[in-house]
Amino acid sequence: MTVHGIPPEILNALEGAVGQSGVTADAAGMAKYLLDWSGDHRGGALAVLKPASVSEVQAVARLCGTLGLGIIPQGGNTGLVAGAIDIDSRGAVVVSLERLNGIRLVDADNFVLQVDAGCILQHIKDAAEAEDCLFPLALGAQGSCQIGGNAASNAGGTNVLRYGMARDIILGLEVVLPDGELWSGFSGLRKDNRGYDLKQLFIGSEGTLGIITGVELKLFPKPARVETAYVGLVSFEAAITLFRQARRASSDLISAFEIIGSECIALARLIDANIVSPVEAPVHVLIELSASATVDLRSMLVDFLAGAIESGLVAEAVLAESVAQARAFWAIREGLVEGQARRGYHVRTDLAVRISDIPALIDQARQLVALEHPGWLPQAYGHAGDGNIHFNVLPPLGLAEGEARAQGAEITAGLYQIVGALGGSISAEHGIGRTRHRTFWAGLAPAHRRLVTALKTTIDPQGLMNPGCLLPSTETFP
Ligand code: FAD
Ligand code: LAC
Ligand code: ZN
Repeated sequence: MTVHGIPPEILNALEGAVGQSGVTADAAGMAKYLLDWSGDHRGGALAVLKPASVSEVQAVARLCGTLGLGIIPQGGNTGLVAGAIDIDSRGAVVVSLERLNGIRLVDADNFVLQVDAGCILQHIKDAAEAEDCLFPLALGAQGSCQIGGNAASNAGGTNVLRYGMARDIILGLEVVLPDGELWSGFSGLRKDNRGYDLKQLFIGSEGTLGIITGVELKLFPKPARVETAYVGLVSFEAAITLFRQARRASSDLISAFEIIGSECIALARLIDANIVSPVEAPVHVLIELSASATVDLRSMLVDFLAGAIESGLVAEAVLAESVAQARAFWAIREGLVEGQARRGYHVRTDLAVRISDIPALIDQARQLVALEHPGWLPQAYGHAGDGNIHFNVLPPLGLAEGEARAQGAEITAGLYQIVGALGGSISAEHGIGRTRHRTFWAGLAPAHRRLVTALKTTIDPQGLMNPGCLLPSTETFP
């Protein structure tokens, strides 16, 4: 194998920590770890390390500390914000958790699951289901993202309005600290009020404070009943009114409330030309109700939607008659995300506002694009029940990528201004990574910056954990 760019003594030392099979340092072998899911971000690395045990992760941390090498923890590399890719090529090592992928314990009696951090989310969901339980984290990348990445990015997804984000459904973490010491925070306890809740520091820390090696998760009873409807409405305002009414009318049994602007359907059809929209209206909503006991969800949903049509709030609605039809509805939601990626570079956002501000956000964002960048195509969709809209904008076909990226940066800045004026957030669920770190840092109040700096410098005094991610530069943290 030809290895360029890594001094032999460093290669030897890395092989000493994780074995020869745990080190990839040739360009061809590293390529798939250095390009993210979207294809938008390509990075560099001295080597990709694949520890196969917690003690190997500890050895990597100790060695990197001695050699002064940056460490970039990597899960499934689906994060969308260049968090697991060193796009500035600072000569760090990528530490992939893919070989640390065992289910450690399924304790259905206590509704607890313990897993290695490199477990693929879908495998965890399957293991829970085998015990008649549900692990509710659900997102389009669940076939390839890892639970360590979900924890490190505090992932959200489509069931947040019912079960919460990753931080709400994680009971405990096991973390290798930057100096190699292992902090083990598994207890199986639902309530534990002994001082600071340290796991919450690491959840959402995007690999900047330590390497997560194990995750203890909350399980839930598996839903025995699920009902899904695809609804057409004339406006986003109407969709938000529908959400409010649906929560009350369903005894709060909504497990998903996804909003899809009708313009997104064409993208889903790029992935599957057989996709047919169940409704014709300008705004679509995918509602899912679920219950773990024999509740008559169907009558609840039929009655509720009939009333909403009667009152003029809903234009049309289709109830799934089978599991296959419900899957077809979800295929639209999942397909549109893949369809965007197929269009290549585009503006991708992850905005949060108060639920009642969603119509204003979309309205103002569309106006911005129409006035300042006509020809660009806005796509509005997202987790409306959480106030989380992905307002993405596709460049005109044929626009050169360099020009598209320059204009895209202007559009993104404009969208961030709009969300700022609404008192919202530039990151609802994807995190900050290396694509939003400057805007994030610039927007922090002095006290917030001081606390963040204190945490970072105390836990990672050498500044080696995921340098350049979340925080603008290592220079800020001497
Ligand atoms: P990576 O991308 O590998 O890493 C993400 C961050 O976590 C990086 O900063 C990395 O350094 C850090 N990290 C990874 N593993 C560890 C570890 N073991 N220890 C410490 N740090 C670590 N996100 C949502 O929130 N909701 C969605 O609905 C959603 N839908 C998506 C749909 C698609 C099609 C795609 C491609 C992505 C979607 N995402 C969504 C984004 C992404 O899937 C999630 O953020 C996911 O949690 C990332 O997991 P990962 O294993 O791929 O992490
Ligand atoms: C979604 C991802 C992109 O909601 O967050 O599909
Ligand atoms: Zn999302």
